[in-house]
Amino acid sequence: MAKKATPLYLCQTCGQVHKKWVGKCDECGEWNTLTEEKNTFSAPSNSSLGAEQGQKIALNYLDDRVVSHAKRACSGMQDVDRVLGGGLTLSSAVLLGGDPGIGKSTLLLQIAARFAESGLRVVYISGEEAKTQITNRAERLHISHKRVQIGCDTNLRNILTTLKHANPDLVIIDSIQTLWADHIDSTPGSVTQVRAICQELVRFAKTQETTVILVGHVTKEGHLAGPRTVEHMVDTVMYFEGERGHQFRVLRSVKNRFGPTNEIAVFEMTGMGLQEILNPSALFLSERSKPTPGSVVFAGIEGTRSVLAEIQALVAPSSFAAPKRTVVGLDSGRLSMIIAVLEARCNISFVGLDVYLNVAGGRRIQEPAADLAVAAALLSAQIDKPFPINGVAFGEISLSGNLRAANQTDHRLKETERMGFTQAFIPAQATVASEQSTAYQDLTLIKIETLRDLVTIIHPSAKKQSKPKTECTVLQP
Ligand code: TYD
Ligand code: MG
Repeated sequence: MAKKATPLYLCQTCGQVHKKWVGKCDECGEWNTLTEEKNTFSAPSNSSLGAEQGQKIALNYLDDRVVSHAKRACSGMQDVDRVLGGGLTLSSAVLLGGDPGIGKSTLLLQIAARFAESGLRVVYISGEEAKTQITNRAERLHISHKRVQIGCDTNLRNILTTLKHANPDLVIIDSIQTLWADHIDSTPGSVTQVRAICQELVRFAKTQETTVILVGHVTKEGHLAGPRTVEHMVDTVMYFEGERGHQFRVLRSVKNRFGPTNEIAVFEMTGMGLQEILNPSALFLSERSKPTPGSVVFAGIEGTRSVLAEIQALVAPSSFAAPKRTVVGLDSGRLSMIIAVLEARCNISFVGLDVYLNVAGGRRIQEPAADLAVAAALLSAQIDKPFPINGVAFGEISLSGNLRAANQTDHRLKETERMGFTQAFIPAQATVASEQSTAYQDLTLIKIETLRDLVTIIHPSAKKQSKPKTECTVLQP
């Protein structure tokens, strides 16, 4: 008698498989995200492959030309090509994630037109919008419809048949969550559907030598809905980020089999689509005109280049029993640590004070190198005295209050000088390759050993830290 298939329960947020239904996923901690899926995995009848021979696969040496040279196509949008690792690698699969309404469809329509102009045959398949909506948007963006073919369907079988006949060089699928594979017994957008569709489209890309760009919506936690399992199937994963209230958008590569990761391209959303911003440092600093307490510029690294950002802090008397610590664009754990170091090592108290920290322009910074700039901003806000307006700070703070050098110091310093700043507050241990030469003629390097030195520079009248009195009791055996 055939054994009855046991059901499986898949978490729709993280893709974790459970044998029993539970209210909370033990992998991601989300509630009510488990749905029942048919168990389509069948165990092999015996544990070994047996004596039957398979087909021989072709082996190549690493330096064989056939293996080492992937063909690329450039869009002509300088920063987009850099994020892709030097242009779009042909026959690859790319996943573009982002919040709904952030501008993914707009960006891809613009990119589609650029690639079509460079001679590629481009097909744009939408499962979300009608053809009239797409053509209206193309008109608004001044894109010629003749170059890009558009199609609207959600059935994967129909889409693959159409694509086999059209034989394009580049296919854009908007979005993977709206498609539906009729051989999978599960609702569109579920983890099983998204996985199966992604697998089919990646196979199509490799066998038909077509590049496929897939759009994926992210969940409110920032994960690609239906999820990590899709990220490992594709060659490149990019995220399109931005704050709703700001017009700036950042395209970031988080995985790239053909180039460096964490490269960014910055755009401004205008009435006529997305405009590339080739000098992002200038854009993120554009609102700084006069010295303000709590404002400090940080020289960060994004992929292979340095981009400056303004860190803003506000310290105000609290009316709450537990003062507020609010952070936008930085890690809140890092803020708590820096406040603790300022209190313990430098005698700067934040007791009874609310602290607000923000990165201007809706940017997000994850580097520990931002510690020194954050500490300088907090200190400047706490004592209500501006940090030098022509100064930049970067360096990692350790719990002892000492400073650690950040990576790519020279890269950061070059961007600092290029943007017209004259002072750089950096850790004393930082090795500056061009120190001996005349590379930084207009830049004074202020080397800081501990956080205490920064306090002395910014706030010379601060009381010297008195040694904490500790009472020792000798325990009698
Ligand atoms: P869209 O590309 O549809 O977002 P997504 O595909 O990520 O869901 O972009 C939607 C937003 O972009 C919408 O709020 C309007 C705005 N927008 C502009 O501001 N200017 C434009 O030229 C276009 C086409 C859209
Ligand atoms: Mg869209």
